[in-house]
Amino acid sequence: MVPRSSIRQTRRTSTSTAHRSGTCGLCRVKRLSGKVRMAVEDSLTESEKADGYILACQAEAESNVEIDA
Ligand code: FES
Repeated sequence: MVPRSSIRQTRRTSTSTAHRSGTCGLCRVKRLSGKVRMAVEDSLTESEKADGYILACQAEAESNVEIDA
């Protein structure tokens, strides 16, 4: 389980500061459980969203979230 506030931190070390806009998709991770909201999710296809993928740079946890990182 990843604590609610840690999703962005988890990926922050592996993404450049030029990213984090929700459009490049480099931070795509699979959510195994929990709820998140994302202000921008332009780089995810409908199929990826249905399969549970989220953008770590945009995801704000609404519960404890487990990801496959
Ligand atoms: S770092 Fe580009 S979409 Fe998240």
